[in-house]
Amino acid sequence: MAIDRSFLDELNARNDIVDVVSSYVPMKRQGANYFGLCPFHNEKSPSFSVSPDKQIFHCFGCGAGGGVISFIMRAEGLEFRDAVQFLADRCGLKVPEDKNADPRAAHRRERVLALMKDAARFYYDTLWKPENRGVQQYFAGRGLTRKTMNRFGLGYAPDSFHATMDAMQAKGYSRDELLDAGLVVRNEKGHVYDKFRGRVMFPIIDVRGQVVAFGGRVMDDSKPKYLNSPETFLFHKGRNLFALNLAKKTQKDYFILAEGYMDVIALHQAGFDSAVASLGTALTEEQARMIARYTKKIVISYDADGAGQAAAQRAIDILKKANLQVNVLRIPGAKDPDEYIKAKGAEAFRRLIERSEGHNAYRLEQIAARFDLEEDEQRVQFVDEAARMLAAIDNPVEREVYAGRAAKMAGVTPEAMAVELRRAAAIRRKKQKTAEHREIRAAVQKAQPRDRALHYDDVKAARAEEGILALIFTDHTLLDDLADKITPHDFSAPVLAKIYGHALTLYRQGAPVAISGFEGYLDDGELAVLSEILSRPPILERRQQALDDYINIMKTRRAQRTSASAGGEGEDPMITFSRMKADKMGGK
Ligand code: UTP
Ligand code: MN
Repeated sequence: MAIDRSFLDELNARNDIVDVVSSYVPMKRQGANYFGLCPFHNEKSPSFSVSPDKQIFHCFGCGAGGGVISFIMRAEGLEFRDAVQFLADRCGLKVPEDKNADPRAAHRRERVLALMKDAARFYYDTLWKPENRGVQQYFAGRGLTRKTMNRFGLGYAPDSFHATMDAMQAKGYSRDELLDAGLVVRNEKGHVYDKFRGRVMFPIIDVRGQVVAFGGRVMDDSKPKYLNSPETFLFHKGRNLFALNLAKKTQKDYFILAEGYMDVIALHQAGFDSAVASLGTALTEEQARMIARYTKKIVISYDADGAGQAAAQRAIDILKKANLQVNVLRIPGAKDPDEYIKAKGAEAFRRLIERSEGHNAYRLEQIAARFDLEEDEQRVQFVDEAARMLAAIDNPVEREVYAGRAAKMAGVTPEAMAVELRRAAAIRRKKQKTAEHREIRAAVQKAQPRDRALHYDDVKAARAEEGILALIFTDHTLLDDLADKITPHDFSAPVLAKIYGHALTLYRQGAPVAISGFEGYLDDGELAVLSEILSRPPILERRQQALDDYINIMKTRRAQRTSASAGGEGEDPMITFSRMKADKMGGK
């Protein structure tokens, strides 16, 4: 990391956490803080808080927490540096060149990116060689124009174990760089050879326009049909969408989500230039959030087969969670969008989009398809399942509308459907209550960090140590005195010692002791510990007294720990928890 400290302070000052978070989740002010639904786990009532004073977020539900940079890292699925760049772009700052960072790391990244680009160029050139007319004809046979092929940078990897490697080494790239790029593989015997051989090549290009991976397809029926680049430091499957680099420029107010490379390419050629595909894996939440950055509405257009429809059901939930309006399109009489367009044309596909249904209607249809609604027994089962699905719809108007539709489909009165729906809703509420109770019981463990690796061996001491940290974040001047009295070694909990140590460093450098100084230094679990501490109500009076009390507890516990080294003594966590709760109540 090692990005200039004062730049990070400026960046934090210009990206108010409330503003940033609000563009992802609606937040409501409540006293000194803002609350909303946590974007990082599924919940019905808001336990996600943002403090404008401390510039932190903290979720009391899932424990996630940190400052504005860590928020962006999570929300956008970015590494620290990329999150910094993201926020810099947002407020028009320029990230300074990183003097201290390992210049080799940045250099290596640049080299491998250049290599990927050169490889794409090589595959492209190979495709258009006269001897590869057959490959060109393969694409033509699939209905692609030369213009489309160029727009997607399609190519061909020679049917050879070393042609790509030779060509790239001739351009000055090393074997290690080729390995890093995932363009060659090493077998058990240590032999290195081309990964893609005799395949038509689809470059995968990220939003910044850089080639980060390839997909390669065989031209016959051999297996595997598609081979994709491995995960590399440039390429994370779950964080890329095929053709997003093109789709982000669309004028359309919706995106199309397809399954395959060829579907997306055929869609673009037919004028649907907002089509993207997840890369041969189930759609991830990160991909859904990436889509939501460019559009409000998405039409799922997966394969017509059972697997495609099952994947669509799962994608609905993931896309809805990213606040997208989700429609599902069904393809009659063809396997996938590519084949449909080839057979029926672009205009026919446009009508399919127009007729695509909202996800609720789609789900009802999917349920109905499993029953014979002419049979009484099966109608009863349909009503039961439909009611369960309808009970999960939050919006009462929406629920009502689809309940009416379900009643019609089953041929029962709206009243009968309403009775079923109420019953299903009651069962659902009960289940949720049970889940909540379970959570409350789990609260006993909450005295511990969520991240098990950060377990407190001495909860009592750790609580005092947390108290000390809370105080110095509220009032840095306490460190003047404290620095001589307490060192990180006095802490029982390594994570708290680490935080204290860094606070001292920042303080001595004259930098603010605030969450911003800890991002990129602490990992997710550690940041969650810190944000939890900082989101407690601050001690406003008699701070020095409080500090001395904490120090006393810390020192006493430390002495006890060393004397009763093999004790197994210590407070029952259940008792600790109820005591803490009592403390909290008394403090308010
Ligand atoms: P499909 O098997 O539906 O292929 O896989 P397709 O897109 O219709 O391919 P064509 O039309 O026969 O060329 C859908 C997607 O799943 C991934 C690829 O991303 C593919 O586009 N996939 C499929 C793989 O990664 N590996 C495979 O072996 C098969
Ligand atoms: Mn296909």
